[in-house]
Amino acid sequence: MRLLEERIRRDGIVRGEDVLKVDSFLNHQMDVELFAEMGKEFKRLFEREEITKILTIEASGIGIACVAAQCFGVPVVFAKKSKTKNIEGDVYTSKVESFTHGRVYDIIVSKKFLGPEDKVLLIDDFLANGAALMGLISLVWESGASLAGAGICIEKAFQPGGERIRNMGVRVESLARVKCMSEETGVEFCKEREV
Ligand code: G4P
Repeated sequence: MRLLEERIRRDGIVRGEDVLKVDSFLNHQMDVELFAEMGKEFKRLFEREEITKILTIEASGIGIACVAAQCFGVPVVFAKKSKTKNIEGDVYTSKVESFTHGRVYDIIVSKKFLGPEDKVLLIDDFLANGAALMGLISLVWESGASLAGAGICIEKAFQPGGERIRNMGVRVESLARVKCMSEETGVEFCKEREV
């Protein structure tokens, strides 16, 4: 999506080899006009699917998930990162092993809000190693809902998450795919056919 790529080029800051800071428009301060355009693009991409729920993970996926949900006319459910060891009650749970943050945590969704009657679109701001997205996919499988695919704002295509998840047969649509980046030269994007 050209608008997002241009914004990343203009306002994104590369840190080291593999961290892209986009906190001025995506995951700290949020540009809701840009979000509206991204929401429309997710709707265009998944138009043929009869989505009943959008599922994301706290915290920074929630904003874009809400804007996208308005385009689809469906509710958003966000998986909560659970701090308690004893998870009880009627929840689906899954483990996320984040390499970026070097920790393991549980994510939970109440059984009240996801079930076999649902068709789910996953939405998140970043796809890197794919740990968070993998956790969400497990929750959907556990719930018996069907999975339409995942809509991602920024995929770091030089990290393995996207390929890993596509190889599982899950449709992943990323609005900007970063091929490589460096502090000196900035960000280079994949051409559209380089999926
Ligand atoms: P991982 O396995 O390396 O942890 O990668 P994953 O794709 O699951 O992403 C994990 C988290 O790291 C996500 O946030 C994602 O937003 C964030 N992330 C990964 N790469 C980058 C990057 O280059 N820049 C920025 N700004 N964030 C990145 P999270 O754990 O879900 O936490 P939250 O920020 O949503 O609260």
